[in-house]
Amino acid sequence: MDNNRWWRGAVIYQIYPRSFLDTDGDGVGDLPGILDRLDYVASLGVDAIWISPFFKSPMADFGYDIADYRAVDPLFGTLEDFDRVLAKAHGLGLRVMIDQVLSHTSIEHDWFTESRASRDNPKHDWYVWADAQPDGTPPNNWLSIFGGVAWRWEPRRGQYFLHNFLASQPDLNFHNPAVQAATLDNVKFWLDRGVDGLRLDAINSCFHDTKLRDNPPKPVELRFGRGFSADNPYAFQYHWYNNTQPENLRFLEDLRALLDRYPGATSLGEISSEDSLATMAEYVGEQRLHMGYSFELLTDDRSAAYIRTTVETLEAKMPHGWPCWAISNHDVVRAVSRWGNGTDDAVLAKQLVALVSSLRGSVCLYQGEELGLTEAEIGFDDLQDPYGIAFWPNFKGRDGCRTPMPWTDGPNGGFSDEKPWLPVSDAHRAISVKAQDADADSVLNGARAFLKWRKQQPALLHGSIAFLDAPEPILCFVRRDAAQSMLVAFNLSDAQVEWTLPEHGAASPIEAPGTTAGAIRDGRLVLPARGVVFATF
Ligand code: NOJ
Repeated sequence: MDNNRWWRGAVIYQIYPRSFLDTDGDGVGDLPGILDRLDYVASLGVDAIWISPFFKSPMADFGYDIADYRAVDPLFGTLEDFDRVLAKAHGLGLRVMIDQVLSHTSIEHDWFTESRASRDNPKHDWYVWADAQPDGTPPNNWLSIFGGVAWRWEPRRGQYFLHNFLASQPDLNFHNPAVQAATLDNVKFWLDRGVDGLRLDAINSCFHDTKLRDNPPKPVELRFGRGFSADNPYAFQYHWYNNTQPENLRFLEDLRALLDRYPGATSLGEISSEDSLATMAEYVGEQRLHMGYSFELLTDDRSAAYIRTTVETLEAKMPHGWPCWAISNHDVVRAVSRWGNGTDDAVLAKQLVALVSSLRGSVCLYQGEELGLTEAEIGFDDLQDPYGIAFWPNFKGRDGCRTPMPWTDGPNGGFSDEKPWLPVSDAHRAISVKAQDADADSVLNGARAFLKWRKQQPALLHGSIAFLDAPEPILCFVRRDAAQSMLVAFNLSDAQVEWTLPEHGAASPIEAPGTTAGAIRDGRLVLPARGVVFATF
């Protein structure tokens, strides 16, 4: 395999730095903490890390509001700390991907300070400014995903500015070529430093409709979310005009041309549009992004039919492009809680690691997923996420999936000597890294064994995918490449199921460590609760 294509079939471990390890006793994780635990990360058998934002920021959205793209926030350390993380990761054979939040900045970015000051300063059109309607209301009906209208009044200019996210995250005006050039220059800064790839935040939100047309209303029955709940008014409209504009494609091509100057550098776009799978197919390709991921498997629907339809729909639209799958991240309820029922969480957690890393594509594994962490219960008084505070109590925000890593069963789970920014629950301390390290049968050791085994299976790394017509709750498909043809089956329920394979000539199980193994008897698939079968086929 061409070394520059390392990202195809790779497992990318997502580190949320605030919650990984605190080394300076301020209750917030930091880059030296990541440095300290890179050996642990390497022990998982993953290929790369993606570090969520660690740049200078007032932290209104915990770093997804950047005030200086080239500086490390003192909360996380220094640029030298980052260089040390990069060097050590490379020494361990891990690639390093960083989060680039290009579509918006923090309200504290110098660009915005200048832009907001007057209507005629040199950066006056670096953000999306618009006059009020005659009655003083905002220019159109666009809404912020985090609550309320997407426009905030700026008295200095007597105009509104656009914010698709928080009011402290103004949207840049990408229609301005100077904004694109400055953005690419910031990206280049990190590529020159040696990073191996970019995770591109909300990448389809860079451009807006210059005519500022109203988004049309959406019927009630279609208001299901991709990372937002159906009772969020954001779900009440089709987001045709505030994001995913055709001009975005040209910008992606310029970004790709820059990346192509750095052999092996990759990109992974976060895509959430009215038809995220179609947008992924448009955005991913030889001249655009290397990979994309969407919220399709980050939702509540976990049926075999849903997973199959999602993958097949994407395959049909994007037969050659490279997907990346995630079932957990820092934005959604942890998969074990979202897809489980509170019983046998460890068995489910092992199955989910195998499931997400058996689909065609690369994988994002979110810190704690390898431990089978459940969603933490956070009381209103401990809540940090402004999104959760705005929609409480119907939607509790994202704090429950962002609590610190439990390294030990000691105070604060060994994450910090001081009170952590979010509490570490007793349930998490009970399944700490230390405890699981010592248990051969733990989710952690299961994930390690599975990922190590997966590396030896060419069909799982690079093969095609084709589904068999298995009945619910069985998800069954064949992964095939020139060297190997492999049947993969998952029982997504808590009860044993059996099913006669339609073609079973040569199906013979291969032992996949770290899973609850099923069997094939006389051409009949026998899957215990949450069981898994891998077989030559
Ligand atoms: C997507 C990120 O994953 C999320 O955490 C963030 O709040 C928004 N983009 C805005 O940057």
